[in-house]
Amino acid sequence: MQTEQENIQPIVWRNATLELLDQRILPATTKYIKLTTVQSIADAIRDMVVRGAPAIGITAAYGVVTAARQRYVESTSNWKQTIQDDLKILLASRPTAINLFWAINQMQNLINEINGDPTERLLAAAHKIHHDDIRANKTMGKLGAAFIESGSGVLTHCNAGALATGGYGTALGVIRSAWQQEKLSKVFADETRPWLQGARLTAWELLEDNIPVTLVAEGAVSALMSAGSVQWFVVGSDRIAANGDVANKIGTFAGAVQAKYHGIKVMVVAPTSTIDMAVPDGASIPIEHRSGDELLQLSGQMMAAEGSEAWNPVFDVTPASLIDVIVTEKGIIEAPNAAKIAALMQA
Ligand code: MRU
Repeated sequence: MQTEQENIQPIVWRNATLELLDQRILPATTKYIKLTTVQSIADAIRDMVVRGAPAIGITAAYGVVTAARQRYVESTSNWKQTIQDDLKILLASRPTAINLFWAINQMQNLINEINGDPTERLLAAAHKIHHDDIRANKTMGKLGAAFIESGSGVLTHCNAGALATGGYGTALGVIRSAWQQEKLSKVFADETRPWLQGARLTAWELLEDNIPVTLVAEGAVSALMSAGSVQWFVVGSDRIAANGDVANKIGTFAGAVQAKYHGIKVMVVAPTSTIDMAVPDGASIPIEHRSGDELLQLSGQMMAAEGSEAWNPVFDVTPASLIDVIVTEKGIIEAPNAAKIAALMQA
């Protein structure tokens, strides 16, 4: 069952099996991969078949369903113990996106309550996480678009679109909504080195929706901003700390610094499942580092000088002081700080 009909569906539960759109080979090839074991689902998250914080969480929820079905067949009395190994495998797949931990925690709470065969109840919960994410994105799309003045140019970074979520997108949800309202003069996406989520994924999904997009190299962002072509820098997030500091794709911090310098507004769009009240500030957010080969190579071919070393943190932290507005499905926070975040989370 698919929860809602969307143009772009990165995660599909079909014939009792999880299928993921392989984002490593987009836009050249559109191919779904079937995953039938929890290890293959964790590997798919680690290897970026699926990526983007909410999409990682939804995938992990379906991973729990896959694991529970197998463990219950192996032992109807002991599955709640043995599934703990599977949850650990999923939890270890990527460290920064809090949505992964949030979704598995939701599923664990349900596991604690279940008596008998768990598959149907866990599947319903995974579908709900998926469906709620799409609904949240549509709400955030409207709330965020209301902030954007007619005639604005927007710049986005990485891919915080349908591909990174259950569907519709966070930052791209706002852009989709503002575009529909004919508010946008132009949409810019930066390439997002080294994985090229901007060039490969954001450009592809905007064009699939007939939204024209102009790509820029990350090094061109200050020139673009100083030319007066953008009024908003709109991004998603992998984890928001209790004080409003935002972890997102490496380069978001640089974009926000450049935006501040040029008097351009910064909007972060993320569901409340991305807010981690257990981390007081950005310094406490675990930042994933990936293989240096991602920098040194291009499409598997060595590109850098042989012998170069590489430092490859894939997320950075933008301090709350650089953010004008955080948009969530529960409401908007302008000039975010700890008190405003706490009030929103308690509402
Ligand atoms: O490494 P990725 O591609 O998983 O990083 C994704 C991002 O940084 C997104 O901006 C973030 O997850 C928000 S997605 C709605």
